[in-house]
Amino acid sequence: MTNFMSFTRVKLILSVFAFSILVSCAKKEPEPIVESFVSYLNINQLMNWVIDPAADAVWDSVAWYSTSGGEKMIAPKTDEQWSNLRNSAATLMEASNLLLINERARGDEKWIKFAKKLGLSAQKALVAIDAKNPQAVFDTGTEIDGACEACHKVFAYPNRK
Ligand code: HEC
Repeated sequence: MTNFMSFTRVKLILSVFAFSILVSCAKKEPEPIVESFVSYLNINQLMNWVIDPAADAVWDSVAWYSTSGGEKMIAPKTDEQWSNLRNSAATLMEASNLLLINERARGDEKWIKFAKKLGLSAQKALVAIDAKNPQAVFDTGTEIDGACEACHKVFAYPNRK
């Protein structure tokens, strides 16, 4: 009887073992994470050479100024000017992804959040530019500025002290 019991137990253990092998075979192994990006610039260069000029183009594109004849607005006029402005907004939008390269983001949730905020606000600028809407371009410019500042407050200024 004891022998029979233990035989059943062995069978049970074996079948559990076989089942777990089956399950582990059926489960797909997660794909290994391959870092396929190369970061050529350091953060300071990326800011000064790519992100800042693109943002400047958006910020400088629309402005109001007073004259003796009343308030005047500067805004893109020709299709080419609007198209150039769109290039800058698109550069800024995609440049936010450059901040998300693992080596730069280092898995920091705050950093990732700020970079995405920049991308989304640049995307809004792109929509405003496509609508040729100066007021909306100006407003999204303010939002872009907020995204830059949010990140700088946490990651840039403290390091410069
Ligand atoms: C996700 C974070 C992040 C975002 C978003 C970000 N920056 Fe930066 N930025 C940094 C960090 C970090 C530094 C400091 C780099 C260093 O000096 O090593 C920096 C530095 C700079 C500098 C260089 C200042 C100097 O002393 O040379 C400029 C210019 C700049 N950022 C502009 C911008 C603009 C414009 C935006 C938005 C359109 C922006 N940044 C958005 C993280 C960010």
